[in-house]
This record gives sequence, structure tokens and C-alpha cells, in this order.
Amino acid sequence: MIALIGFPGSGKSTLGNELSRRYGLPCFDVDEAIERYAGKSVATLFREAGETVFRDMEERFIADRLRSGGVGVLVTGGGAVLRSATKKNLIANSFVVHVFAPLDTILHRTREDATRPLFAGPDRVRTVSKLFEERRGVYDFAHVAVDGRRAREKADEVLGAWLDFSYRRLR
Ligand code: S3P
Repeated sequence: MIALIGFPGSGKSTLGNELSRRYGLPCFDVDEAIERYAGKSVATLFREAGETVFRDMEERFIADRLRSGGVGVLVTGGGAVLRSATKKNLIANSFVVHVFAPLDTILHRTREDATRPLFAGPDRVRTVSKLFEERRGVYDFAHVAVDGRRAREKADEVLGAWLDFSYRRLR
């Protein structure tokens, strides 16, 4: 399993979709799965049930998916790896790819986005910048890191690195 981690807006979904499109890998988006299960958006879940309930679901969905052991791409939400159990689980049971992008790219890409509860607030630039600072280093445990500014172009490189990683693990 290839697991994509990284700050919101870094390009995880774009890369996940591209890997899926190019190589026919099933793509499992954790946020989307939670929304389908709960019958509400992530923003509504945060508002109505609170962040902890969402984080519990996130941890459980990722654990279930890793346990199922299939081949595919797992697109995680930017805060999923804040749970140490999830972080350990991902590193032990998947090929972890950190999709990164600089703050100005994130701000630009998410300028009209109202779906991310942690980005909401009167001063969006300040809120996002603060979260970006707080998350510094959080994704560094990944097996590899790729530049999400060219997420689509990175699909071949990620697939190659994953095959290499899987081969070395088998030997
Ligand atoms: C979050 C990121 C979001 C989503 C939720 C919380 C975070 O996913 O899971 O809004 O804490 O970084 P994306 O990274 O896909 O935006």
C-alpha cells in the first residue's frame, strides 16, 4: 500500500488520483470514506461532533484499510499522522510518501476553499501559516518525500520507489 501524507493542499489527492489513473491502483481517500460513512462533510463533523470524534474515525479507517492488506493508494488527511498509533501503523505497514509544498503554494491553492475546518477563520492567511508552522517536521518520518507542486508528474517516480521498496522488503 502506498500511503500519501502531507499538509492540506500539498497535492496528496492529485497524486493519488494520478497513480490510480495511470496504473489502475485503487485509491482510498480517508476523508471521503469518513464523509460517506457519516453522511456529512468533514467540516460538519468537526462542528457537530468535534475534532476528537473525527480523529478517532480517521485512526480507525486507516487501521482497517492497512489491516485489509490490499494493494493501492491511501490518501490520508493532513492531521492523520498526529496520532502516534497511526504514524506507527503507516510506517510499519505501507510505503509512506510525504507530499510537500511551500506555504505560498498552499495558500494560493486553498484561497477559495471553505471545506477545511482548520483553515476557517477571519484571518485565513494567519490561520494557515500558524498551522503550517505547528506541523513543521510532522511528516518527516515518511520513506520518501515528493514535491506536490508537480504532483501529477511525480506518479512514475513514486511508483518506481514503491516497487523498489517492496522488492527490498521481500528479500
Ligand atoms: C485536516 C486535513 C483535512 C481533513 C480535516 C483535517 C488536518 O484533509 O482531514 O479537515 O488536520 O490537516 P486534507 O489534508 O485532505 O485537506
